Amino acid sequence: MHEASIVLGMDDLAVQEEVLHFLDRLPGVRVVGAADDTSTLSRAVREHRPDAAVASPALLESGDLDGAALFVVAEKETTSALRAAIRAGARGFYLWPEERDVLARDAERAGRPRTEQRPSAGRTVAVFGPRGGVGTTFLATNLAAACSAKDADTVLVDLDPFFADVTTALSIDDEAAPTIAELAPVANELTGEHLERVLHRHPLGFRILLAPHRPMGSGLDPAVVTASVRALRARHQVVLLHLPRALDEPTRAALEQADMVLLVVTLDVLALQDARRALEVLRASGLEERCRLVLNRVGRGEIVPDDAERVLGLRPVAMIREDRAVRRAQDRGQVVAGRSTPAARRVSALARRILDEGRSA
Ligand SMILES: Nc1ncnc2c1ncn2[C@@H]1O[C@H](COP(=O)(O)OP(=O)(O)OP(=O)(O)O)[C@@H](O)[C@H]1O
Ligand SMILES: [Mg+2]
Repeated sequence: MHEASIVLGMDDLAVQEEVLHFLDRLPGVRVVGAADDTSTLSRAVREHRPDAAVASPALLESGDLDGAALFVVAEKETTSALRAAIRAGARGFYLWPEERDVLARDAERAGRPRTEQRPSAGRTVAVFGPRGGVGTTFLATNLAAACSAKDADTVLVDLDPFFADVTTALSIDDEAAPTIAELAPVANELTGEHLERVLHRHPLGFRILLAPHRPMGSGLDPAVVTASVRALRARHQVVLLHLPRALDEPTRAALEQADMVLLVVTLDVLALQDARRALEVLRASGLEERCRLVLNRVGRGEIVPDDAERVLGLRPVAMIREDRAVRRAQDRGQVVAGRSTPAARRVSALARRILDEGRSA
């Protein structure tokens, strides 16, 4: 049994809030969406494909629940409410709040067996460039778009508290948009609702947890990094971590959470040297096995991919060519992913690999 995902549909916002708080704190339950009218509820069910919908009698006309179990919650047990529940094929009827413990038990049991889960749930991939300027921001932002284009529920997390390049690279100019800083006070009790509130939605479908709009005085708290990444991976299929060029505590905390670390390297002496040093540190922490080499800006140079493989002892999983479209797009706050440029095609293939590895993990 896995964590049961639940969409709420309740017309009374005060009750919705109470039910949400109650369910979201249960270890075996995750509230993935909430609606207060029938059309929003239908949309949320289509979008999230939850294991169950918890709905009030007024919202039972929402149509197809796509195989989700239906639990009806009402403050009063009236004949018309019970009838509506039966007509809609409800699995249970619960009085709120008196019967909430029974609701909790049944909601937790609604989790479908793993085989029926969507593929590659909770894949965490860190994008890490041991040398500056190798294309970490390019790769992280474009992979987010490419994974999202393949229908994976994707979140990009900018863990660079000083430069926040993701914000610029994706031209997010809303200075009031929430950032990871907002999660610090609630890091010990992160709920789906907290995350919903701070995630920025990109037009290409993926979500972003932004780095702070102003450089932080001190870096991120490693405990906040760990808690945020864990909570996100429980709720999303792909969590991409955009890491700063550092090997400090918060960066190591992020690397420890990753299933896969994409080491971004260009074919020059300093990039290879820095990657070698980074690998030494990762090896000492037992993280070397997770490392995959990505060669970026590959062109006609003196150092060739075989040299990188020899120096680093890793065979590249992707070689991304030098591509003029990349800088042009990045300077405009856009991505190349989804286009047919050479770099975009490589990024797309890498996204496919990430999703496939997740599926077989
Ligand atoms: N494959 C590529 N082809 C051409 N230009 C590229 C490619 N990858 C990245 N670039 C360009 O190289 C520059 C550096 O890329 P990017 O900002 O993504 O690197 P970074 O590793 O995040 O840098 P920093 O260390 O400053 O954070 C940018 O101008 C970007 O557009
Ligand atoms: Mg960068």
